[in-house]
Amino acid sequence: MFLPLPVPVPSARHRSAVASPANTSAAPSGADLLDFARSTAADVALVASLPLDPEGRTWMRLQGPGGSEAWLIGWPPGSGTGWHDHGGSHGAFATAAGLLTEQSLAAQLPTEGWKVLELADGIDRERQLSESQGRAFGPHHVHQVFNASRTGHAVSVHAYHPPLPMMRRYSRTGQVLRLEQVEWPQEWA
Ligand SMILES: [Fe+2]
Repeated sequence: MFLPLPVPVPSARHRSAVASPANTSAAPSGADLLDFARSTAADVALVASLPLDPEGRTWMRLQGPGGSEAWLIGWPPGSGTGWHDHGGSHGAFATAAGLLTEQSLAAQLPTEGWKVLELADGIDRERQLSESQGRAFGPHHVHQVFNASRTGHAVSVHAYHPPLPMMRRYSRTGQVLRLEQVEWPQEWA
């Protein structure tokens, strides 16, 4: 995910706008999370209900499937997450409006015991996700997501299972990735 989130939307807390699938006994798979993200992204009324702010991201917490954590996020032009992981959760996201760019690493990084890591050449990936497009990712996924538009907002739906236990945030200079911060759920609850 994507902290710090600069503009809270208090009235949207605890919203449960999307029904869970019939079978909630099993942990949701990546496909389940992606299905949720894409179907929620297609909920025009829900997407339109998210307040947008030109100065920063806005968000609304959703009820994800199978006990997952889910968010609807608004991205003003030029906003982004910075590099981060998801604390061992897997997840999915889908664009509901606009165009998002994801840069990711096609390599599994060691999660503990390092502060600075030199990345191998050739592991960078980039994709654009336009409206209704999404992707699932595994528990070791490291990425950054941003809205490269100069003029238009983007909106997206994100789901994580288990709910994010923590996140690691990184800075990157060339091929050097540096662990900068560990964030905990109470910081973005
Ligand atoms: Fe993320």
